[in-house]
Amino acid sequence: MQEHTTIYFKDYTPSPYTVDTCSLEFIIEESSTRVENIMTIRRQDPTAKVLHLNGEMLDLELLWVNDILYSEDMYTKEEDGLILPLDCDDARIRIINRIYPDQNTALEGLYRSGGIWCTQNEPEGFRRITYFIDRPDVMTRFTTKIIASIERCPILLSNGNLRGTATLDNGKHLVLWEDPIPKPCYLFALVAGDLGSITDTFSTMSGKKVDLAIYCDRGNEEKCHHAMRSLKKSMEWDENEYGREYDLEVYNIVAVDSFNMGAMENKGLNIFNSHYVLADEETATDGDFMGIESVIAHEYFHNWTGNRITCRNWFELTLKEGLTVFRDQCFSADMNSELTQRLDDVRALRERQFVEDSGPTAHPIKPDHYIEINNFYTATVYEKGAEVIRMMHTVLGREKFRHAMDYYFENFDGKAVGTEEFLESMQSQSPVDLTQFKRWYSQERTPTLKISSEYRSGSAELVLRIVQMIPKNTKNQDQLPYAMPLRVALLASDGSAYPLQSDDVTLMHEDVIWLENETNEIVFTGIPIPPYLSLNRGFSAPVNIECSELDFPFLMAYERDGFVRFEAAHQFGIETLEAMMNGGEVNERYIESYGAVLQDEACDTMFKSQILELPSITTLMQRQTIIDVVSIVKAQEELKQVLAKRYRDVILEMIDSLYDPTNTDIDGLSMGKRSLKNRLLGMVMSLGDKSVSALCEKHYYEALSMSERLSALDLLENYAPERASKGLEHFYTLYKHQTLVMNKYFSLCASSRRIGTLERVKALQSDPAYDNKVPNLVRSLIGSFARNPLAFYDISGEGFTFVADKVIEIDALNPQIASGLAGAFKNYPKLSMEQKTLMGCELERIKNHPNLSNNVYEIITKILEAS
Ligand code: PHE
Ligand code: ZN
Repeated sequence: MQEHTTIYFKDYTPSPYTVDTCSLEFIIEESSTRVENIMTIRRQDPTAKVLHLNGEMLDLELLWVNDILYSEDMYTKEEDGLILPLDCDDARIRIINRIYPDQNTALEGLYRSGGIWCTQNEPEGFRRITYFIDRPDVMTRFTTKIIASIERCPILLSNGNLRGTATLDNGKHLVLWEDPIPKPCYLFALVAGDLGSITDTFSTMSGKKVDLAIYCDRGNEEKCHHAMRSLKKSMEWDENEYGREYDLEVYNIVAVDSFNMGAMENKGLNIFNSHYVLADEETATDGDFMGIESVIAHEYFHNWTGNRITCRNWFELTLKEGLTVFRDQCFSADMNSELTQRLDDVRALRERQFVEDSGPTAHPIKPDHYIEINNFYTATVYEKGAEVIRMMHTVLGREKFRHAMDYYFENFDGKAVGTEEFLESMQSQSPVDLTQFKRWYSQERTPTLKISSEYRSGSAELVLRIVQMIPKNTKNQDQLPYAMPLRVALLASDGSAYPLQSDDVTLMHEDVIWLENETNEIVFTGIPIPPYLSLNRGFSAPVNIECSELDFPFLMAYERDGFVRFEAAHQFGIETLEAMMNGGEVNERYIESYGAVLQDEACDTMFKSQILELPSITTLMQRQTIIDVVSIVKAQEELKQVLAKRYRDVILEMIDSLYDPTNTDIDGLSMGKRSLKNRLLGMVMSLGDKSVSALCEKHYYEALSMSERLSALDLLENYAPERASKGLEHFYTLYKHQTLVMNKYFSLCASSRRIGTLERVKALQSDPAYDNKVPNLVRSLIGSFARNPLAFYDISGEGFTFVADKVIEIDALNPQIASGLAGAFKNYPKLSMEQKTLMGCELERIKNHPNLSNNVYEIITKILEAS
């Protein structure tokens, strides 16, 4: 029986030894790589006598300690590292080992993606390159020498600045890199191969010149320009907003096709999933362009929030991730539309994080234990983490927040710290005590605010009652109320807000209540007539609101806060759909309010598209105690048809005026027009009308942007199957050699609502463009299937069996990708008896599979234990 050890935050102790410098030499050969590692070790705990070095899957060849060659009896070699006696304050350790990048399918450490050698070391990949103290609180100055064939690897890259190159005998060359800034080994990177590139320069605020380059497979260079523009904008933004300047002579980005995540912030040498670098009008959607801008920014911002100030241990992951997501969200808001960005971010939070937080894998943004840290790169640590930072930003205000960040950079630069140090920085500028606020870091699940009001006409007062409902955690323990900033307004009938006055609460920036108690009664004075309630404006707190007094039609028409206006439509949509699911009639007032927004000419185009989106299956599933996908889809389609019938002519006219097939620009208005047009086309397609499907087909063949192409094809697939096959064939023939586009193709097929999707997905696994060793392809085909509620929750249980088979199969290759897939089973506790039995069998089957990874084991056992 395998062991799956749990690591606890409370057991953290500083490292007894540290590594001050590390000089690495890589000799890259076709089938293996030789690594020579010379470390200067310094003892930090005077009582320490034994040095533990992490190392996995390494062929150790030779080891010297202080120039003495050690024989095998002088140290202990285990599966996961080396143990050697070391009773001195300073030592020089030299190690030679060999690694096998070609056999590395886990994509951690040094591996090959296509023909390119590249690395991924966060969180614990460096131990697969050489023996080291692989933990983020050991910060080291690295130099890297790389030797490889000039022909196979004309490009040799590592962190820091280029310090020399030389041509060697027998067709080899050597490149030397030196990174002057100490860093944890998870930020080490190396790239070798024959790559194309584009270059540029950036001149920093103090006038230093930085050489910028983006590397990719030859032939893709022209697709890198959007990424380069995004990089330069990010560098400028971090200077303007935070006064943070870049600190090396070069900034390199490399795009690779096989990558477990989105991208990695390695010092001076970011490595990216090519999905987040390569784009042109023909092959990338508007969403892809936006994604590139934000991920490029995210990795760049890590240089200060993550790299120069890093995490003391992996429990502190949200210190760098939550903060950096917050920074990239603000950047994207500044580059595009603040409201659009906020609505997208809130939607992602609620559909991914709220779902995670209410299920078996819920955890605090700062977890206190883990089996496999790779399982904690989650929506909770990232997106909820960002919301927690955003709440502090709301409390402090823009200016004080900037001062608090200055404090953070001044005091902790060059150090490995924790969220305590970050909170200390925030507290230094905060108008309120943040002690209770810290519970956001240690508690799980999403609180709900129950809100009601009472108007007292005699005294012109409005009483607001707010009760925090705090759910129990995954261990079924009670949790405590939070402190949070709640932005509210009391509105007059024209949508204007009364100035808020109250003696009962701390009011910040006029309209923000600092809520600390479980039960709150707040009396607002000077309200001449009963007002309309506007709650959680801008989504100032990441909570659910329960309030039966909200006037949705009023808010949809008059509310000036974009989020609350959107939210009124969203909640009204949910209410309408749920009534239909319970056998009720379609709510006429909803249809009217929807129509009013549809025809509101003053409304921003992208915002209109967002507000007109009906609540998703995920949203409705989340609210069910027992999942019933079929009834959700039925109600959704019915509502869509009612709306489409009622507004058919208006919608068709709008489609016509919005449609601009040759425009592929990615400014806000162009993207908004495409988005709204696609949304409206989807509404009328639900009517199954021949002339509309002919129009949709025309858009598919005629439009030049991938956003329009893809959404037209998706609509044909789901509403006009007779036209879909031809379109799909056309699409396939055009793009079968472009793997990034094939991801879209696989994902479209696997997300289909048509019957027979499982058989189709099974067959597509043998498509020449598919490869289960490439994470993007697995996510597109298998991942999309697992996220396709109709197909996955099919009553036969065949969807469960298929995904379980894939989890087991892929776990043997790449545990990180397998555990991502295993997350598909997270609704286990919410299934009907029959479905639960079926899924339960599959979960047990996975759990009992021999040699299961920690990654999958941890996820599966949490799911099984939850019910
Ligand atoms: N640190 C990366 C980021 O958020 C994510 C990542 C984690 C990438 C683990 C690879 C492996 O930017
Ligand atoms: Zn990050």
